[in-house]
Amino acid sequence: RKHAFTSSAITQSDIRRVTVIGSGQMGSGIAQVAAMKQHEVTLVDVNQEALERGKGYMSKSLKRVAKKKFPEDAKAQNQFVEKALGHVTLSTNASKSVSNAGLVVEAVVENLKAKQNIFVKLAMEAPDNAILASNTSSLPIAKIAAPLTLSQRKRFIGLHFFNPVPQMKLVEVVRSDEVDQKTVDDAVAFVKSIGKTPAVCKDTPGFIVNRLLLPYMMESIRLLESGVASARDIDTAMKLGAGYPMGPFELCDYVGLDTIKFIVDGWYKEGAGLKGNKLFESSKKLDELVQAGSLGVKSGKGFYDY
Ligand code: 3HC
Repeated sequence: RKHAFTSSAITQSDIRRVTVIGSGQMGSGIAQVAAMKQHEVTLVDVNQEALERGKGYMSKSLKRVAKKKFPEDAKAQNQFVEKALGHVTLSTNASKSVSNAGLVVEAVVENLKAKQNIFVKLAMEAPDNAILASNTSSLPIAKIAAPLTLSQRKRFIGLHFFNPVPQMKLVEVVRSDEVDQKTVDDAVAFVKSIGKTPAVCKDTPGFIVNRLLLPYMMESIRLLESGVASARDIDTAMKLGAGYPMGPFELCDYVGLDTIKFIVDGWYKEGAGLKGNKLFESSKKLDELVQAGSLGVKSGKGFYDY
């Protein structure tokens, strides 16, 4: 049966207005891909410096995309970059920025209290039909939403993007037990509207990708520790023998060794169904690198030097 005005049709237009909280790599990537598809985006952070850095990430990546889209046409490239950036408003005023949002996506540090505080405040200030979404990679969606009211929790969902956001085609849409089906449907429609492919899954540690990726990374480190092969040879083996775009050590360095340690430690200690699971036990090598501040690409040194 066809409806002329379904409620989801109304939400579809609301969702053109997207507020992204946190202008780091993930947040600015999310803002960028939404802006590239003409959503009206507000990117929020605590100070102007952080926002300018986020804008820098977006410009750099947009130029890369533009070069491919319009090879040999510098003018079209510039227009493409400017048009996308024109859809992004930078703001340090979170309350004001969510006041007419259709979707609020949080992408701040992976800290439960910080995320809860943001949502407790912004859920009240956002329209009462806005979708509330977290880009968490390792915290339970239900836990982040726990301090919210039931009506807010029904609109709360996980939207998990991957690094680098402009290039990776997947977004995991994570449903808690309390979320409304309509919220899931609207979130899926949003993901498609920004040119990404959704994979819906339950609110379990690591969702799909990280649940499988982390054991693979940790096993790679254990393989290295046991002296079976060098990091370089393990990476070469997985790239050329299994067709992965990066080897496990390149990927660890790319994601950040502190991030990997934070995730596995959390799950090993208290992950639902994962607690004490040897797959997620940290390793001496990983602990030493993190201790020494060798966190991967971002610190100039990890398993490799950069
Ligand atoms: N913005 C725009 N485009 C980008 C980009 C960016 N930031 N980074 C890469 N690209 C594009 C390039 O323009 C290029 O496009 P083309 O193939 O259409 O010409 C393409 O990506 C490939 O880039 P490069 O040729 O420079 O380099 P690579 O071929 O080595 O690809 C990569 C780089 C896309 C990062 C690839 O190595 C890859 O897919 N690696 C695996 C990444 C991955 O697994 N990410 C998930 C990590 S886990 C995670 O994020 C979850 C978290 O919760 C922990």
